Amino acid sequence: MVRPEPHPGLRGRSVLTLMHHPSDTIGAVLDLADALKREPVWPAWLAGRTVAMIFEKPSTRTRVSFEAAIARLGGHPIALSGRDMQLGRGETIEDTAKVLSRFVDAIVIRTGAHASIEELSRHADVPVVNALTHAHHPCQALADAQTLRERFGSLEGLPVAYVGDGNNCCASLMIVGAHTGMHVTCGCPEGYLPDPDITAWCAATAEANGGSVRVVQDPVEAVAGARGVYTDVWVSMGDEEQEAERIGVFSPYRVDDALMGKAAPDAVALHPLPAHDGLEITRSVLHGPRSAAWDEAENRMHAQAALLTHLLG
Ligand code: CP
Ligand code: NVA
Repeated sequence: MVRPEPHPGLRGRSVLTLMHHPSDTIGAVLDLADALKREPVWPAWLAGRTVAMIFEKPSTRTRVSFEAAIARLGGHPIALSGRDMQLGRGETIEDTAKVLSRFVDAIVIRTGAHASIEELSRHADVPVVNALTHAHHPCQALADAQTLRERFGSLEGLPVAYVGDGNNCCASLMIVGAHTGMHVTCGCPEGYLPDPDITAWCAATAEANGGSVRVVQDPVEAVAGARGVYTDVWVSMGDEEQEAERIGVFSPYRVDDALMGKAAPDAVALHPLPAHDGLEITRSVLHGPRSAAWDEAENRMHAQAALLTHLLG
């Protein structure tokens, strides 16, 4: 396999949200992700490279897919729980960033406030990759886009609906959709709409790329004609105190067979996982023939391997 020239919009850069990278970086990452997916044995493109992965919140997919991707590329991942670091005892983000930069070639972090990752990246001398904040989940969105592209051949003009909480996964889907010219419609209840600044940026970027971004409140209107129907948990990490209220508000937004029936006949269901059976998605959809969620989870590994190759090239 020929090592690709790192995209200039990615080489040596941090990825906190995909808003800060040119639109054509997405295609570059997805092309490489697809190529790696076809290869049983990966080239040692990260040989001699070490990546620290800090998890301040639980994770199954992100942690294992990053660790597997780095190992398969011949690099060395170090997974750290925020609790076990001095960070958990009050060492500053600034000092942590400066010290880790002396040891490793990149820092992957899952944390709460988006401002924390911005601070980490300001003080780090190596690329910082967002493994989820409360505002963004860019690595998830790369896998989402890879999954939709492998199902439908092209993202340009593809109608995709997001139904439920206007959260981090919703924002990152809108951003990747805007970069790639999808027609993204979000169906979210009042009070849980995606961030208006991100929505405005996405609408302008989508228009420049031949796509569109729309926010409506009716889930049926959102999925009409969609070929991808995406949902995520109603209670994100950090929102646990609002659980009862959220379950009440989001019940009409459940992705079940009836809602899938309002989408395009070839529509697939997407979910970043973990899923809550019978809440935001029914078992019959998640485990049924229209579910793309398992490929979507697998693609996390390919998309992140491709991203790190471009960043560390
Ligand atoms: N989708 C996702 O980020 O899963 P984890 O929380 O298990 O990493
Ligand atoms: N919106 C969810 C995504 C989990 C992968 C959360 O932030 O908890």
